[in-house]
Amino acid sequence: MKIGFIGTGNMGGALAKAVAAALGGECLYLADANVEKAAALAGALGASLVNNDYVAAECDFVFLGVKPQMLEALLAELTPTLAQREMAPVLVSMAAGVSIDKVAAWIGVECPIIRIMPNTPVAVGEGTVLYSLSPSVTEAEREVFCAVLSAAGRLCRMPEKLLDAGTAVSGCGPAFVCLFIEALADGGVECGLPRQQAMELAVQTVLGTARQLQATESHPGALKDGVCSPGGSTIAGVHALEAGGFRSLAMDAVCAAYERTQELGK
Ligand SMILES: NC(=O)c1ccc[n+]([C@@H]2O[C@H](COP(=O)([O-])OP(=O)(O)OC[C@H]3O[C@@H](n4cnc5c(N)ncnc54)[C@H](OP(=O)(O)O)[C@@H]3O)[C@@H](O)[C@H]2O)c1
Repeated sequence: MKIGFIGTGNMGGALAKAVAAALGGECLYLADANVEKAAALAGALGASLVNNDYVAAECDFVFLGVKPQMLEALLAELTPTLAQREMAPVLVSMAAGVSIDKVAAWIGVECPIIRIMPNTPVAVGEGTVLYSLSPSVTEAEREVFCAVLSAAGRLCRMPEKLLDAGTAVSGCGPAFVCLFIEALADGGVECGLPRQQAMELAVQTVLGTARQLQATESHPGALKDGVCSPGGSTIAGVHALEAGGFRSLAMDAVCAAYERTQELGK
């Protein structure tokens, strides 16, 4: 099986690393307008450096890792090569705000299309990859796709109409979580902790709490209750967060991100 990437920048590169971690570099074929960038990644992963045309002609899965505004021109360039293939490859588009219908119209030849929305933690194998399928993607192709990205983190299939909502949580969420971590650490510094130690504590606390939630499948409210002893310090802190509208603000952040995602996709 050959897995090709056209565009090996921040996100294409991170996903290519995940593919190499799952399947090894031998099945990976990398192309980028910036040849040195693709060459460096290919060298690091044991992958092959190729050009766009090779990926379109030979690969079974073609990951499209260019910016959304570059995608239409790239697909127009690939169409003649794709049209000559006996078996169409699966196209995997990560372009934010670009629908499956648009990709299909731009490519002009019949190909199964998977639209994905990864987030930045895929770079460390702890990402979330939302995905939607065009009707022509077979169950066998979906299973291979899941195996190919298994080292990226969690894969979550959803109808395309929910992708913007999912993006507002998992795509934009890392920025919201980073703000919270930074604020936790700032609070620690204000209380006298050295900066580095405050940051380590804040990061580990968010990581550990998330892992505990995943492992126990508990409701966050139940875990919170477990930490709050009557008349204690934690409930005093929770009161301060509630007084500042913390939860309402977090919901507003997701809703604002959702509305902006929808605007940008028009
Ligand atoms: N970064 C994220 O957090 C994130 C999250 C979710 C989805 N995405 C999606 O991922 C895609 C890539 O974003 P990115 O942040 O990774 O962008 P990026 O770092 O700019 O990477 C894009 C790469 O594609 C290359 N390229 C441009 N046109 C090309 C062409 N015609 N043929 C081959 N290579 C070409 C670029 O080369 P040059 O630099 O020389 O132009 C660059 O190396 C976008 O569609 C974006 O919506 C990104």
